[in-house]
This record gives sequence, structure tokens and C-alpha cells, in this order.
Amino acid sequence: MKKQSLLLGLCLFWLFSIQAQSHVCHSPDGRIRLSLGLNNQGQPEYAVWYKGKQVAEPSKLGLKIKDHFSARPDFGNSWTQVAIDSSRTDETWEPVWGEVKTIRNNYRSLILTIRDMAARSSVMKIEFRVFNDGVGFRYDLPDQPELKSFVLVDELTTFNLTGDHKIWWMPGDFDTNEYTYNTSRISEIEKNTKKRDGNIFTSTPIQGAFVQTPLMAKADNGIYINIHEAALVDYPAMDLQFDPKSFEAKATLAHDASIPEETDPAKKNKAYLRTTARSPWRTLVISDDAREILSSKMILNLNEPSKIKDPSFIKPMKYCGIWLEMHLGLSTWDYAGTQAASDAGADGKTEKRTKHGATTANTKRYIDFAAKNGLGGVLVEGWNTGWEEWFGLWKEDVFDFVTPYPDYDVMEVNRYARSKGVSMITHHETSGSVTNYDRWMDTAYKSMNRWGSPALKSGYVGRIIPRGEYHDGFWMVNHYMRAIRKAAEKNIMVVAHEPVRPTGLHRTYPNFMAAEAARGQEFNFWSEGNPPEHETILPFTRIMGGPMDYTPGIFKIKKSHYYPGAKEQVHTTLAKQLALYVTLYSPVQMVTDLPENYEAKPDAFQFIKDVAVDWDDTRILLAEPGDYIATARKAKGTNNWFLGAISDENERTLELKFDFLDKGKSYEATFYKDAPDASWDQNPEAYVIEKKTITSKTKMPVKLARGGGLAVSIMAK
Ligand code: NOJ
Ligand code: CA
Repeated sequence: MKKQSLLLGLCLFWLFSIQAQSHVCHSPDGRIRLSLGLNNQGQPEYAVWYKGKQVAEPSKLGLKIKDHFSARPDFGNSWTQVAIDSSRTDETWEPVWGEVKTIRNNYRSLILTIRDMAARSSVMKIEFRVFNDGVGFRYDLPDQPELKSFVLVDELTTFNLTGDHKIWWMPGDFDTNEYTYNTSRISEIEKNTKKRDGNIFTSTPIQGAFVQTPLMAKADNGIYINIHEAALVDYPAMDLQFDPKSFEAKATLAHDASIPEETDPAKKNKAYLRTTARSPWRTLVISDDAREILSSKMILNLNEPSKIKDPSFIKPMKYCGIWLEMHLGLSTWDYAGTQAASDAGADGKTEKRTKHGATTANTKRYIDFAAKNGLGGVLVEGWNTGWEEWFGLWKEDVFDFVTPYPDYDVMEVNRYARSKGVSMITHHETSGSVTNYDRWMDTAYKSMNRWGSPALKSGYVGRIIPRGEYHDGFWMVNHYMRAIRKAAEKNIMVVAHEPVRPTGLHRTYPNFMAAEAARGQEFNFWSEGNPPEHETILPFTRIMGGPMDYTPGIFKIKKSHYYPGAKEQVHTTLAKQLALYVTLYSPVQMVTDLPENYEAKPDAFQFIKDVAVDWDDTRILLAEPGDYIATARKAKGTNNWFLGAISDENERTLELKFDFLDKGKSYEATFYKDAPDASWDQNPEAYVIEKKTITSKTKMPVKLARGGGLAVSIMAK
């Protein structure tokens, strides 16, 4: 590991019309230029250029605070510069798991220190890091006599975009990210915000052009800009409020529940901080090549190195589980389903059927399936008492996370799994009752240790208790961190559903494997579902912050297979479901369909058995948000590659080049393709498998069906 951090003094004194005094800093390769300084009103501002073209016009910086519950209108009225420091860092590090083996962290930093004489002489630092692939910045309030603990009421940051860009967005919301994406111009957000899909899980008031991050934008000059944040710790999440005329987006922080009578969101309390206090990084990933947005490691680089000393308990894995059968209504999470069925059988006429999914016998069936097919884990949902009431309004104490239903022998199931080399993934659905979960967490994680279950899937469905708090607010952001840290202490890997969207914290806590925090595959089973373009947008948006537990791999695409006449379906072809294991990166990937559906198609299932979940290298071959993505990844510790290509609702031909392969070597490639007559709506399960010997010189056009895809396993000979 090599770290250089030397003072360069490279940043020049620069004068231009809008900023009274500003400093310039270039990325190491010179492509990105940042200017930072105080304007004529003594307010900090920044602006950004990419290859000489402006990306952000002068944009605002600043915070608004209160202390001892009285406003500090003096804070931030007018600043003077105290110091400007610059430095250079170029180091490489190895992630515990990831898309590539080593990551280069290469940037120039510029730190502006400013003092506010009016506000009891408060000092604030604004730290920028300029990378070859973007810019990150954060606020840093050092410990100082006149500023100890305070309430953050607003963040003044703006991203002043240069035009009416095309953007891929979902409505702003502090409770949920389970939306389909909209594609429109910035000026058209407001008229499209009605498309909220009648989401019942939120009460965030929506005003105007309000959107979530990660937000993907494309300017008419071909420059792609992704706006998000990194290292969201001890601070609420940020959404963006656009001015539809100036295209300036203002940071809008999720507020807390403390002053319900205050109707102005800019005056509500956002965070309770104590100096030294640092904000998360605000991030702009920038390139004129969409592929570079997907391969950017800037958000990870802005997070702290791993705090887990011995990461040997952390193991990427594929897993199956008792999950889809409930989403399809073939079995139930709750044990009461069993009671009803048994009662029905008591008259001797009706067949006695157990509907409860999480039984010992059913779990052993999945464990056998996992062991036979080399899957590392088995998830079981509905194993613990409480599911009869989990969706109710009173939900404070419905789960204790330790008491199994009578037909689930938790010790036996874990013993059996271990004897077959399979890990049990324990499920904790909090149903949003988080005070209750906080009370049980230590006991529940200790029980997992006792049972020998090394991984946890947590869930936060529904409105939060404490009532009035949001999933993305300060209190909850701190809760997710408590859970991840506590799990790390107990050697437990975590996959969280319905948490705040990730911000690269898996660098610091590599036991935080994946999260949902977007609209997953599940929506296809019980709603109008996710449109075919959905998975071509996710990597450019939600997955910029970290891996997603999307749950790919559905082979029985139409629900009418189970319920004649049912309209629901996955908006995909079967080949695309295979490709998703490569295009949607995650170190844990569910092998989602029912075992019998895989057993019926062993030739296609072979790809899922072969595909890796941890990688030494990744190449984004072709990409355009909302249209297509083709990705190749090299499996950890091998010379084998896996390729996934996906399309939106359009049929298209992609020109694939295999020049990422080692020169002079031959590889045995298996192509899992859409059949010539396949399409997501007419003939989704039709695929063909072809084997070919290929080399680094191989090139070929491949046709993807409407809503289709291609998966290729490429094994070194
Ligand atoms: C929603 C989660 O996304 C899903 O995976 C889970 O099965 C249900 N909640 C029940 O916890
Ligand atoms: Ca969910």
C-alpha cells in the first residue's frame, strides 16, 4: 500500500466574474476542474468543469444551525477565508470482496477554512476531493469553544446544473425507494411526480420537482453526471429539490419528528451533532462515457477503510430460500395459516394441508437443494412468532426475533445445514418497529451465534416506530449503523431490506453485504411489476451506492403457471434472468426460483451454478442508462469470466468484443441466448444454449430480445 500526501500548492489563485476570490484544483489527469471560494457576499461557492465544459455553474455551500434550541441566524451570514490547503493522495487498497481486486484512490484535495466573525467566530472547513472520475465534498465543523452541540436545520448545498438535462429519477421520499424510474427532462419532473404508484408506505410531503439520489443525468453535450452521497453516518439522507427553471438542485435533508407544528421543511430539525462534526460527502461522478460511471469507485474511495480487523467470517455467497413461495401465495409466513388448514382437515373430508412455509422439513429440502448445487446459504422467512400481526397498526412488540414457531426446529435446522456445508440466513423483519428491534438486537444476534447462523436478512417494512420518524432520517440512519456495528462485533453478515439507500459504507463495514433500498424483483409477483428497462437503470442509480439484493433467477416467468388467468409476470426473458447475476453486482445473490423450476431446466440452471459472486476484475463493455448494459467479470482467483448483457423493452443487437480475455489463450464459452422468437411478453422462457471456443480476437453481434438478455460463461481451457 502506497500513500503519498504532499502539499502541492498547486491550486492557483484565480479570479473570475462571479466569485470574488476562488481557488482552482484539477483532477490528477486534468480532465476535471474545480473552483472553490467565497463570493462577493462572503458565501462559499463551487463550480465544476469536465474537459473544459461546465458541469456545475456556481453552486451554493453551507449549513444552517441552532444551538440550545435557539436559532443562530448569525451563523453563516458572511464568511472570511482563513486558509486554503491542498494535498495529493494516490494509494491502492484491496476490498474484502468486490468487483475488482484492487482499487486506486487517486485525487487532489482542496480544503477551504472559513471563519464567521458575526457568529461568535465560528470556523468551518469545506473539503473537496477531485478525482479523475468526479468530485466529492463535505462540511467539517471542528471542535471549538463557541460551537459544541447543535441542531442542524438545513443544508444549503446546491448542484447548479447547466441545462435542462435528461434525468433518470424517482420521486423524492424519506420513507421508501421502491419506485419505478421516470426518464424526463428536469423541467418535466413536476408533471410526472404524480406517478407515485399509490405507495402506502410513506407520508413524505411531495412538493414540486423533488427527487431522490443516486440521480443520473445526461447533458445534451453527452456528459453524464451522477449525484449521490458517500459515507452517510450520523446525518440524515439527502434528497434533491430542483428549480425547474434554473435546473439548480438543492439538498433537502430528511427531517425528524420533533416539531410537528413546524410546516416549513427548511426549519425542521434534521440532526443533533457535536463538534467535531462532519457531513457525508456529496458526490458528482462525471464522464462523457456511460461505462465509466458504472466502473467508478469514487463513492467507495470516499468511505473510511475497513474497521473489521478479522474479516474471515465474511463470505460472498449465492443463496436460495423459503421466500418466493410466500410472495407467490403458495405458502404463508404466519403459522396461523397452518392452524386454519389443520382445522379444515379435522372433519376428515378436507385434505389436511400445512400452509406454513418455514417448517423444519421444508427447510431441509432447501438445504439439500443448496448443498447439491453449490449454493452457500439458505434464507428462511416466517420462522419466528409474530407474523399474524406484523402488518397491523399496533405493532410495537409483535416480534422477539428469538422464538421459533412450533414446527420450526431452529437448532436442528442449523445443525443439518452445517453438516452439509450450508449457512443459514436468519430473517429479522422489524416491520418498522425499530425501538423494539433495538431492545432485542443483542439477544437476537447472540442467539444466531449460538445456533451457528452467520448471516442476517433484516427488514424495515412500513412506517417507523418511533412514530413520525422516517426511514431516511437521522434516528434511523444511526439505527442501521448500530445494527451493522453490532453484527460486526458478533461476526454476522447483514443484508438489509427497506433501509436508507447505501452510500459505499461496505468499504468500512464489509459485513454489510447488500441492501434492497429500491424496487426489487418481488414487485413482479404481486403488482404491475418492474418494466423491462428497470434493471438497465438500477446500476446507474441505486447500485452506485452499493450492492443490491435484487433476487434474480426466475425461470417460471408468468404467474399464470400457478394461477390460471393471473396477469402478473416478470418483465424479462429467461436469458435476461441469468444475465442479471453479472449486470447487477452483489456479493450475495439469491437463487430465487423454486427448486423444482430449476430442476426442470438443468441446462439453463448450469449458468447459475457456475456464476461467481466475487470478482478480480470487471469490464463494462457497453452501457446506456435505460437502454442496455453489457458487463464482463473475472471470477475471484480463477481465469474464468462471466458476461451478462441486458436490454430494455426493445430488441437490439450488441456488437460484443472479447478483447478482455488473455491474448493467445482459448476459452470454452457457453452462450445462454434468447431464442429467435423469445420476448418478455410473448415467449419469455424460450432460450438456446450454444458452446464455442473463443479467444481475445473473437467479435460477434448478438441479438437481445425485447426485454431480453444474454449470459455467457467463459472457462479457461
Ligand atoms: C419485504 C422484503 O423486501 C421481502 O424480501 C420480504 O420477504 C418481506 N418484506 C417480508 O419481510
Ligand atoms: Ca422490499
